Amino acid sequence: MSAHGTPIPMTSHRVTGLSGTAEVPGDKSISHRSLILGAMAVGETRITGLLEGEDVLDTAKAMQAFGAEVTREEDGTWSVFGVGVGGFAEPDGVIDCGNSGTGVRLIMGAMATCPIAATFTGDASLNSRPMARITDPLALFGAQSHGRSGGRLPLTIIGAATPVPITYTTPVPSAQVKSAVLLAGLNAPGQTVVIEEEATRDHSERMLAGFGAEITTEHTNGGYKITLTGQPELKPQTIAVPRDPSSAAFPVCAALITEGSDVLVPGIGLNPTRAGLFTTLREMGADLTYENERTEGGEPVADLRAKFSPDLKGIEVPPARAASMIDEYPVLSVVAAFADGQTVMRGVKELRVKESDRIDAMATGLRACGVAVEDGEDWWIVTGLGHGNVPGGATCVSHLDHRIAMSFMVLGMGTTHPVSVDDGTPIATSFPIFEPLMANLGADLRRD
Ligand code: S3P
Repeated sequence: MSAHGTPIPMTSHRVTGLSGTAEVPGDKSISHRSLILGAMAVGETRITGLLEGEDVLDTAKAMQAFGAEVTREEDGTWSVFGVGVGGFAEPDGVIDCGNSGTGVRLIMGAMATCPIAATFTGDASLNSRPMARITDPLALFGAQSHGRSGGRLPLTIIGAATPVPITYTTPVPSAQVKSAVLLAGLNAPGQTVVIEEEATRDHSERMLAGFGAEITTEHTNGGYKITLTGQPELKPQTIAVPRDPSSAAFPVCAALITEGSDVLVPGIGLNPTRAGLFTTLREMGADLTYENERTEGGEPVADLRAKFSPDLKGIEVPPARAASMIDEYPVLSVVAAFADGQTVMRGVKELRVKESDRIDAMATGLRACGVAVEDGEDWWIVTGLGHGNVPGGATCVSHLDHRIAMSFMVLGMGTTHPVSVDDGTPIATSFPIFEPLMANLGADLRRD
């Protein structure tokens, strides 16, 4: 099955000497939040650098359905006229969030404390993902939900007419859960508190503060305690979305595993809650440097320079780092195949409930390409073969998962035989310019 009806198989052939500059698109997490918070502010929010991938475009359509005016200007600037906290209108139709877990979960939070009902659906991948992790805390605010078994989509939420604020300890390390609770807390009177054991990406907290909400984070013995004061008037913002470290991961990793490569990936956000992959790659011996380090829009940013790294070593990735690189394990497993020794990844159960079961999807494809992978419920180990020794030569299944498709395309850039995926269409959800951008660096990607 494809994201868009007709699957497009793709093949990646071995290349050397990737070079040039890779200007990756805007950050997906920040793009969703810009549209949603813009829709909850009073007045016009202007956004440049928005990721125009399918996931984010679905969120833009959803914000229109809830009553915000969302337009794209010719120069690529997006304008959102918000309806204010608690001002969402009841949508006429079903809200289709496509492939996007972030989109649907954050929007469910944002509407759950408004006196309206909305029905949400998505593609086959999204409709199989767990939603009780969102509807459970939303019920505490007073919202009702009716979904399929296991709380899966399609699902209807009847928002709380008189919401009450809550204190909630997240049962899984998830910025989506934390953010859904905070967005719901915006329209509840008093203080909503979220406690998380491990720090997850903090874009919602930073952006809520930027929009004028009263929000604090305390580091306590039990973890991180985030306190939001409800019913603020959010002030519209001018937002320049930084480039996405999760997209930067693909050209960076491609350069590390291909002989003679030297690639610059400029303007990448290095927020510590997102940059775990780059730390890990450096520990493995990657020739990856940060140039021109600076602060932009309150976020640490640098230009990344990645060069061919023939002497990569397998390492044990600290489980405490998992949340800061949760989307990057698939492409890390590709780099691990070219390292010497084992790369051990533990504490990563969440990978099994992403757009696909990412441990299973990568392990199956890597094995088919001649790489030994062991796995258990919340761990996996890749035994690297060293540079020049990874066979490849298989067709891997992308399972409606953009990051799986792109990871296998990176794998094929360094393997002896080409690597194919059954369907490359999911790539458009987060990185619509992946093919031309990689081709521009010298990659040989072919649509079969
Ligand atoms: C995201 C959080 C992560 C991540 C997803 C984006 C976000 O999911 O995998 O791609 O923008 O909040 P979880 O919070 O469920 O781990």
